[in-house]
This record gives sequence, C-alpha cells and structure tokens, in this order.
Amino acid sequence: MEKITIIIDGKQVEAVKDQPVLMAARENGIDIPALCHHPELESSGGSCRVCLVEAVQGGRSRIVTSCNYPVRAGLEVNTSTDQVMKIRKGVLELLLCRVPDSEVVRGLASKYGIDEPRFFKDEGENNRYKCIACSLCTQVCEDVVGVSAISMQNRGVEKAPGTPFHKDSQACIGCGACAYACPTGAISMKDSKGVRTIWGRKFKMAACSVCGKPYIPQAQVDWIVKTTGKDRAFFDKCPDHR
Ligand code: SF4
Ligand code: FES
Repeated sequence: MEKITIIIDGKQVEAVKDQPVLMAARENGIDIPALCHHPELESSGGSCRVCLVEAVQGGRSRIVTSCNYPVRAGLEVNTSTDQVMKIRKGVLELLLCRVPDSEVVRGLASKYGIDEPRFFKDEGENNRYKCIACSLCTQVCEDVVGVSAISMQNRGVEKAPGTPFHKDSQACIGCGACAYACPTGAISMKDSKGVRTIWGRKFKMAACSVCGKPYIPQAQVDWIVKTTGKDRAFFDKCPDHR
C-alpha cells in the first residue's frame, strides 16, 4: 500500500495510491454522498452519479465519479464547488423522479433543497419505485454470498433485479444480503414469527438457544455448513450470545 498526499477541498490529506477518491475522502472525515458504491465490492459504483466531484490533475479539471476515480499523486479534489453542487443537485432531482418512493433518495434530495422534482415521476412497476438499477444486490449475491439467486433483468428504465423467470429462486438462501446492500431500500424483506419472507419465498429462521430469538434462516446455516465446513453447532447461539 503506497501512501501519497493529495489535496481535498484545499486540505492536504494522506491517501492510498489507486484507492477511490470517495474512500480517501471518507477516511479523512470528508463526506461525499454516494449510493451505488459498496466498499467490499470492487466492481461497484459508477451508476448513480451522486458522488460527482471536481478532479484537477496536470492543470486539467474534470467532473468525475469519486467512487471509481483513483487517487494519484498531484491530484486535487473539490467536493463542493458551485458547479459540483449544481450538477449533483440535478442528478438527485432526476433520481427522485425515477424513485419517488425511496426514503433514502428523498432524504438526500431534501438535503440539497429538492422536495418535489420539477419533472414527471416515473410510472414504473414494483420495486422500480425505489430501485435505481445499481446492481449492488446482484453483485453481493454473486460475489460475496456466492449464490446468484437474482440477476439484473430487462434494459433501460425497465432494468431491475429479479429471480429467474420471476419464479421462486431455488438458489436463494434467504440471507438478505441483497436487502442490506441495497442503497435505496428497494428490496422487501420481512421477518415475522420465525419466518423471513424475501423474493416471494418464506424461510424458517433458526433460533438462538440462549435468548430464543430467531436470527438466521435455516437455509443460510445449511449453505454455510456445506460451503465452508463450519460446525453446525456454531449457529446454536446468536452473535450476541456466542
Ligand atoms: S434493488 Fe437496490 S441494490 Fe438492487 S439494483 Fe435496485 S437499487 Fe440497486
Ligand atoms: S456512488 Fe459513485 S456513481 Fe454511485
């Protein structure tokens, strides 16, 4: 890990060469809004455009997405110039038109003074009211969980995650990683009376032997035991009582 010094908002900060500008900024306490980037997923980011900043290098200024723009020596970053704020505001206004039901996008847009978009709202179906088609959910499912229960389907404004042929995904283990990773709250997951409902399927939850709280789908335990060889007895207790 090569450490270098760059300038963000006029301040000299230390950063790791090639790390995304977004991460360098956050590690130095500088907030840049971002939706579609996940620090654990290298291929994530680049789709929502909320994280736009000005990057100045070699006397040349460009507006770039900070979540996938690499830190290099001599880089100067400006996160909130008038131009950056104006473009980011425009991006948020368009996102709000696309997903008017997402509390996350609504809250972010509101911080930039947009409560109602000037343009017409998307008349989408199902989770398109909240989904920004960033693919974080499918990437987490495939790259982190290793299951590939869902995939991005359709194109353009119709693009959204779904199960194969919109039927119950037999590969799904009910872990909910997709719902936790989704930046806009577009994936519905409900835990009730020891049963988790997600992607149209119901998963029985295993309960903690100490507190009795259902805390993990049985199918997820089976998957972890099968793929890692971990002792099944490990899952008798929830993380709070191990
Ligand atoms: S459901 Fe969420 S994580 Fe998946 S593509 Fe839509 S916004 Fe992204
Ligand atoms: S967080 Fe950078 S483009 Fe979405």
